[in-house]
Amino acid sequence: MRILVTGGAGYIGSHTVVVLQDAGHEVVIVDDLSNSSASAVDRIAEIAGKVPELHQVDLCDRDALFEVFSRTRPEAIVHFAALKAVGESVAQPLRYYRNNLIGGLNLFEAMGEHDCRTLVFSSSCTVYGGAPALPLREGAPTWAVSPYGWTKVMLEQILTDLHAADGRWRIGSLRYFNPVGAHPSGRLGEDPRGMPNNLLPFITQVAVGRRERLTVFGADYPTPDGTCVRDYIHVVDLAEGHLAALRRLQDRGGYHTWNLGTGRGHSVLEVIAAFERATGIAVPYEVAGGRPGDIAASYADPSRANEELGWRSDTSLETICADAWRWQQANPDGYPN
Ligand code: NAD
Ligand code: WQD
Repeated sequence: MRILVTGGAGYIGSHTVVVLQDAGHEVVIVDDLSNSSASAVDRIAEIAGKVPELHQVDLCDRDALFEVFSRTRPEAIVHFAALKAVGESVAQPLRYYRNNLIGGLNLFEAMGEHDCRTLVFSSSCTVYGGAPALPLREGAPTWAVSPYGWTKVMLEQILTDLHAADGRWRIGSLRYFNPVGAHPSGRLGEDPRGMPNNLLPFITQVAVGRRERLTVFGADYPTPDGTCVRDYIHVVDLAEGHLAALRRLQDRGGYHTWNLGTGRGHSVLEVIAAFERATGIAVPYEVAGGRPGDIAASYADPSRANEELGWRSDTSLETICADAWRWQQANPDGYPN
């Protein structure tokens, strides 16, 4: 298939483009490079042996997006492009609503007008809000605790309505848990701009000497060691979930939500220990107060995706840490500009 991948130069998108190309698909990337680098696309080509077509276009530019559709005639879409920093979305809600919602609406309209109705959408476990019942199942009510989270809840609702109005749409909303790690080649990985918000990139930047120590946000949560528990999923496993979802949508259609997680929770201290075991490098840390908005524990029930997609993720935390470290060590300052 000819697959248009929005946000394909980004962290999860770049790994997914490699998986799609390896499976024989032709990939067109639409990315405005607002949070990524064209070098990631060169690295994709190097790994997969095929150069994906890159269109540097903002999804909010409707005319430019429609032009890409007219020229490339995609058969399916994987939609990653979005702003994703939870704290930033609280400070700049309009920027997040505009980018994620207007960008999404333009994309869905372009799809309808060009007879392309197969979509895999990057959703998030954030749509479970602060739901206390664990493990998290797709049937749990959706809610959000940040403007970023609301954009995911709203886009899922729009896609539900779209499928209800016209059953020709084939849509999978993939609710990712905590994507981490890097391509085993060390050539693709996560390259946050400025201070990392997320745990693993912060740990690898401490290990490589870019930051002095990690701050552990809270050690008095009601968890076994007091630190927060999350479901960390290797980014390549996650990328493979998109291929599995596309296959399922081709076979059966419908509108679906699928959790992409491992089903296992690990605490912040367990992640630090796994990193130290995998790399032999000590990670200095200090414990501070909890981060506003953090919940004590979150992990998936991935059984729907296991059964319906024939997909599962069980890469160990040690392998995740070893891959993240290989990427960071080989690219201490991220991608070249
Ligand atoms: P990322 O920032 O690395 O990738 C997003 C890409 O989209 C970037 O390359 C950026 O330049 C591009 N982009 C953003 N707005 C755009 C626009 N208007 N037009 C064109 N391109 C645009 O982020 P990621 O971690 O790879 O996340 C990908 C998707 O997965 C996002 O939708 C995110 O919300 C979702 N998600 C991420 C996580 C996570 O922890 N990384 C967890 C759950 C869900
Ligand atoms: C993991 C754990 C922190 C940094 C976020 C989004 C969520 C989804 C995935 C997009 C937490 C602790 C972190 C640090 C720390 N993204 N931590 N020190 O918050 O579970 O999820 O990414 O959809 O919506 O909220 O991930 O990596 O930020 O944090 O102690 O410097 O590590 O408190 O317990 P989170 P994270």
